[in-house]
Amino acid sequence: MRGRMFPMNLTPVVVNLHLGLEKPLRILHLTDAHIALADDEDSDALKEKSAARRTVFFNEGKAPLRDPVGFLEEAMEYAKSFDYTVITGDVFDRISHGSVDKIRSVLADKEYLFCLGNHEFSIVTGHAPKEQRGEILELLKTVFRGNLFFESKVVGGVNLIATDNSGYYWTEEQYELLKAEVAKGYPILLFTHSPLENGIRTLDPNHDGRTATIRRLILEDGGTEQTLATTCKVTDYIANEPLIKATFGGHFHGNMIKEFGNKNTYILGGLFKGIVGEIHID
Ligand SMILES: [Fe+2]
Ligand SMILES: [Fe+2]
Repeated sequence: MRGRMFPMNLTPVVVNLHLGLEKPLRILHLTDAHIALADDEDSDALKEKSAARRTVFFNEGKAPLRDPVGFLEEAMEYAKSFDYTVITGDVFDRISHGSVDKIRSVLADKEYLFCLGNHEFSIVTGHAPKEQRGEILELLKTVFRGNLFFESKVVGGVNLIATDNSGYYWTEEQYELLKAEVAKGYPILLFTHSPLENGIRTLDPNHDGRTATIRRLILEDGGTEQTLATTCKVTDYIANEPLIKATFGGHFHGNMIKEFGNKNTYILGGLFKGIVGEIHID
């Protein structure tokens, strides 16, 4: 399609970044659609739960559409007028047959980077019980493209990275992959589900309060002190690495800008409200 489409039901939030590019670049950021469908192959309990969750997101949504599936369809159409699209998780509200079918069909043949949200897969919020994790991951691989834990793509001289922190921890593998991306020398925009920010909500297990709970859950789930140490190390690395120019997240469902080390984190509101992020880079 030529030209720029006007997003009928979407509410764009624009972030302008100046990285000294020869040619301007436009990236579309989507997060937190929270699609909660159920069909005849889902249990009655899941049907009831999904209906209740649809009501919650409908009431939080925005007229006139208030339909997470409709918003995702429209956003993926709108994506055609961008240079690239990044989706930062919680596309599902919960895993159900109905939602798997629908989301798979909307995203089929589309080009995008994706990272998992805690509603797709998280040891901490219980969306991936230990005994079902392998099965859930295999299923998710049939819905979303790419490596679910770490993906990168250089677009117009900018390195876009989407990586998993849905479990509120980082791994040594992610650290090595990140360093290899930094070594390529391009300016980096880093996308995660859970936003990175200074203070209580950074992925720093030594913080009090909410993160103390996360620390306990990670350890209970089989994580070790090493998992927590790696998490602190990678968080510090991202915060301080000059080539990582900004980070982007979702999860909180509202639009916010927070400081994180030597950069900003741009937190985008939920697509279930019709919110889409436009990153304009020059
Ligand atoms: Fe969410
Ligand atoms: Fe989330």
